[in-house]
Amino acid sequence: MFPLKESQPPTGIHRTWWKESNIYQIYPSSFQSHSPNSPTGTIRGITSRLSYIQSLGTDTVWLCPILASPQIDMGYDISDYRDIHEGYGTMEDHDELIRELHARKMKYVMDLVVNHTSDQHEWFKKSRSSRGKGNEYRDWYIWRPAKYDKDGQRQPPNNWLSYFGGSAWQWDAMTQEYYLHLFAPSQPDLNWENPSVVSAVHSMIRFWLDRGVDGFRMDVINFISKEPGLPNAPVSDPTSPWQSPIALHSCGPRLHEFLQGIGTILKEYDAFSVGEMPGVGDEKEVMKSVGQEREELNMIFHFELVSIDGQTQDKFLPRNWTLQELKGIISKWQAMMLRNHGWNALYLENHDQPRSISRFASDAPEYRKFSAKMLATFLALQSGTPYIYQGQEIGQINVPRSWALDKYRDIETLNHWRDKVLVEYAEDKEFQDIMLREYRKKGRDNGRTPMQWDGKSRNAGFTGEETQPWMDVHPDYTEWNVENQINDPDSVFSYWKTVLALRKELKDIFVYGDFEMLDPEGEQSVAFIRSADERNKALVVMSFKDYETEWRVPEGATSFLQCPVKLKNYEDEPQSRQGGGAEGGGSSAMILRPFEALVYVSSGGNSD
Ligand code: GLC
Repeated sequence: MFPLKESQPPTGIHRTWWKESNIYQIYPSSFQSHSPNSPTGTIRGITSRLSYIQSLGTDTVWLCPILASPQIDMGYDISDYRDIHEGYGTMEDHDELIRELHARKMKYVMDLVVNHTSDQHEWFKKSRSSRGKGNEYRDWYIWRPAKYDKDGQRQPPNNWLSYFGGSAWQWDAMTQEYYLHLFAPSQPDLNWENPSVVSAVHSMIRFWLDRGVDGFRMDVINFISKEPGLPNAPVSDPTSPWQSPIALHSCGPRLHEFLQGIGTILKEYDAFSVGEMPGVGDEKEVMKSVGQEREELNMIFHFELVSIDGQTQDKFLPRNWTLQELKGIISKWQAMMLRNHGWNALYLENHDQPRSISRFASDAPEYRKFSAKMLATFLALQSGTPYIYQGQEIGQINVPRSWALDKYRDIETLNHWRDKVLVEYAEDKEFQDIMLREYRKKGRDNGRTPMQWDGKSRNAGFTGEETQPWMDVHPDYTEWNVENQINDPDSVFSYWKTVLALRKELKDIFVYGDFEMLDPEGEQSVAFIRSADERNKALVVMSFKDYETEWRVPEGATSFLQCPVKLKNYEDEPQSRQGGGAEGGGSSAMILRPFEALVYVSSGGNSD
């Protein structure tokens, strides 16, 4: 009865634990401290919350970096790959965390940051110690001589822009050369062209796998192979001397060779991998990385959806987006993976992104709960493995509008303000106000406020009441917190639990089923069908508007309205308007309330 699809449903999807898994992401600094005096979270704090994480229905835990680091970029600047950051605990604490996870049959995913190290890493200290031939570490990083302009002024070797602002090259006065840093100057890029670097990284990967790590999230992993010769980047911003180099390092010529090198080790351990891949949209490149048969990565995080509200040359520049664009991005990635034996990593939030309720729906008090539940439905019922970022499960939102920049902590936002806005727009108050508004929309700090455990104690139970946390707790913790939600059947937490359980209960439909977007042009709602086969399928419908809308159900989908509603985020029954015509075939419209979400399931042939 279902003539909706032209393409064939996916066949031969390989079934495996990481496709069925629900993954919980922890930002260690902001999750839970076990000691009342600690301004940041700790590993023992994380261990103390494993039952909570498991009760949500997540079974794999990814931890953002916990290794030794001066924390210039919150641990993405590692100074020792084989030691734990002091503020987070000890190697014993970490072993205990792994043991406790495994005792619960949960998996542990570590963050692997190998595009760059900290400038405090021994490798870099040795590398920068001399240019002499005898220094075997010199070539572990990317050093180049200066260029000189026509006035004899020293200039960096090329025009590459750093992701944290300014030139991507730092002058080293002692050895009289520049080194490359795609991120902060304190994050020098490793030189993967040097086989010693590759084997040092491999041996470090084995070190952690041997200690019980079940897999890795690989930080900007598509950046590790750069275009030979490091040519100038094309000019995308004529007002700046520095240009986005992404095309020259986002999928360099040796990327897949390097990924296969890592993939071979992971295979030996049956370990999991998800690669963070900014700037990659090309189907061929993507499929080379995640194609099942190539054994490079299991899945990747793409950036198309989370770039929808910013501009390519500067994410803080505002951009209006449409629901049609959003649906286009979803459809593209769903189809790409399902048709090519790849797999999607589904996320709306992480430590680099603002809170999704504030970004994609509404954090106004009257809509917040509906928005949170609607987005849970939207995310977790697509094809792919869902990632839930700490606090997302209780509906945490962006930092308050009243927060001034002195409450922000992130190097990306603070550099942008100091080096770009205050320099290039020093007199332009209007632009400055726009940027402050955009930081509040897209700044990374929005997702980094501490986890809100309870509503009574100062600091929300994240750390002791007398301690000043590294970042302020969002003041709405008195109402929005775990304690209020875990036993409330109507809470955002309970809804997430239900959605994640539903995904596992109806695996054939929601994990392994096909995906079809309906009404790709509609600007008010998103609707898709997930189907295991002709008889077992689901219709998922969501309003993205804060007012009542009407959704005209496409002809082939009207029979779903006779099926049981498996999930909804409003207490009372959904409202629909049946037009004339035969049952299931006539024109029907659904009246969707603000941010309403509905899931109809037809199983065992009931839909016929
Ligand atoms: C990744 C991380 C981000 C970090 C950057 C540099 O994008 O997720 O937090 O700043 O890489 O390591």
